[in-house]
Amino acid sequence: MTEVTNFSFNELDLDAIAAAEGRVAFIMSPDAKLSRAARRINKLTKGAVQRIVESEKFAKAKEAEVITISWPVGMTAEAVDLIKLDKRPSVENARKAGAALAKLGGGTSSELLLILAGMNKNAHEVVMGVALRGYDFRDHKTSKPDTPHKNVSVMSGDVEELEAVSKASLAVAEGVFMTRDLVNEPANVLTTVEFATRIEGLQNQGVEVEILDEDQLADLGMGALLSVGQGSASPSKVAIMQWNGGEDGEAPLALVGKGVVFDTGGISIKPSGGMEDMTMDMGGAGVVTGVMKSLALRKAQANVVGLVGLVENMPSGEAYRPGDVVTSMKGDTIEVITTDAEGRLVLCDVMWYAQNRFNPIGMIDLATLTGAIIIGLGHENAGVFSNNDELCNCFLKAADAEGEGAWRMPLGTGYANAMKSKIADWKNAGGRPAGASTAAEFLHQFVHEDMPWIHIDIAGVAEQKSPTMLAPGGATGWGVMALDRMIRDMFEG
Ligand code: BES
Ligand code: MN
Ligand code: ZN
Repeated sequence: MTEVTNFSFNELDLDAIAAAEGRVAFIMSPDAKLSRAARRINKLTKGAVQRIVESEKFAKAKEAEVITISWPVGMTAEAVDLIKLDKRPSVENARKAGAALAKLGGGTSSELLLILAGMNKNAHEVVMGVALRGYDFRDHKTSKPDTPHKNVSVMSGDVEELEAVSKASLAVAEGVFMTRDLVNEPANVLTTVEFATRIEGLQNQGVEVEILDEDQLADLGMGALLSVGQGSASPSKVAIMQWNGGEDGEAPLALVGKGVVFDTGGISIKPSGGMEDMTMDMGGAGVVTGVMKSLALRKAQANVVGLVGLVENMPSGEAYRPGDVVTSMKGDTIEVITTDAEGRLVLCDVMWYAQNRFNPIGMIDLATLTGAIIIGLGHENAGVFSNNDELCNCFLKAADAEGEGAWRMPLGTGYANAMKSKIADWKNAGGRPAGASTAAEFLHQFVHEDMPWIHIDIAGVAEQKSPTMLAPGGATGWGVMALDRMIRDMFEG
C-alpha cells in the first residue's frame, strides 16, 4: 500500500525556520511585498530572497515554478525553495506548485517545512499537489529509491481553517492512492479474490461491504457476467460497498465499476504485444473503490453505493466462446460475437442489479471499456455518455474543476441497431464504426426507463505512459476527485 505523505499543521513560527531540517519552501507572489516568513529567510540568507525577486530569472519564471537556494548560509536546511505563485492562485497552479515541491523530495532528507502563510486562496491545493505527486508505486521494488517527502510541516496564518480543508483534500488523496495502487497492481497479485479482500478492508473506515460469490450470482441470474469469468481459475465476484453518511432512507447515488482484473480477450485473444497493459482493465472498479474510501475518510454527508464486477477474462477449456448465447439478469439474451467485448457483459448485470436493489437517484458506471475511445479522445479526455443533461453537466463541471479531462460523446438508437442479433436479442459488439458509442448504447439497454445515468469510458485516462502534473507514469486515479466533488455538489450543499 502506498502511503500518503504525513502532514502536520502549525502556526507560523519564524524561529523554527532557521532551525528546520530538510527543505524549506515558501510562496513568493510576483506583485506582493515579502511576507514575514520571506523577510526572515531573506535576513538569514543575507538578502538572497531579495536578489532572487529582483532577478530576471524570477521575472521570467512561470506561475508555480520553483527557484532553489541550495545549502543556504545562516540556516540548517539543505535547501530553500522559493515558489513563484499568486496569492490567489487557480486550483491548477496551486497544485502545480505543490507537485513541483513533491518532485524535489527525497535525497538526504525527507522533511519539508512548507510555509503557506500569506496565501489568500487555495493554500490547501498546494498541500493536495504535494500529496498527489508524492505517489510512487514501490511495493514490488526490492531496493527502495529516494523517498519523497515523508513528513511535511505546513505553517500558515489561520492554521485551523487550513487544516480542516486540507484534511478533506487528503482524504480524497487517500482514495486516489487506493485507486492507483489497485490499477498498478499486477494480475497475479490482484486476483478477484485479492480485490475483494482489499474492498473488505474498507469496513475499517465504516463502509458496509458485501461480497457475492458465484453461487449467489447464478441465483440472481447474472449469466452475462458469469460467462466472462468462467474460463478463469479466479472466481467471479460482485462487491457492494455502501456509505450511508446522508439522510436516513434517502435514495443513494450508485457507482458501478468494470473490474476485469486481467483481459486476455479470452478465446478472441488479443495480440501479445501490449497485452500486459490489461492489468488495468479493472480501472473502473478501482475508481469506484477509491471514491468509497474518500467518502468514508472524510465522512461525507451523502448516501452512495458502489458496486463492482470482479472477473478475469481468460481462454481455457471452460471459457465462453464466440457464438455462445448468454442470458443477462435482465432477461435479455446476448450473442457473444467476440469474447473480447467482455466489459459490457459484466456491467450490464451489475447495473441491472444496482437499479433493482437500490433504486438509486442516479447511476454512474466507469469502465476501461473500449480501445475506440482512445482513438477518439486520446489520453486527454474520458468519454462521457449520458441520458440526462442535468446529471451529466453536474459531472462535467466537477471534472473541469478538478482538471480531469472529460468530453461528452453521443448515444442514439442507431448505435443500438448495429447490435441486433439474428438469433438472440443482442450481439455484444457492433463492429468498428463508433465503437465507444455502440458499447455505451449496449449498456443503455440495461438502464431503467427514466433512470438518470452516466457511462464514463476511462480506457484512455486510467493510466498514462509518461508522468503527468499530479502523478508519475502509470495509474492516474482519474475520476476519484471529480466524482468526490460531484457528490459534494449534489448532496453536501
Ligand atoms: N479492455 C478492453 C478495452 C481497452 C483497450 C482498455 C485498450 C484499455 C486499453 C475491452 O475489453 C476491449 O477489448 N474492447 C474491444 C471491444 C471490441 C472487441 C468490440 C476493443 O475496444 O477493441
Ligand atoms: Mn476485452
Ligand atoms: Zn476489457
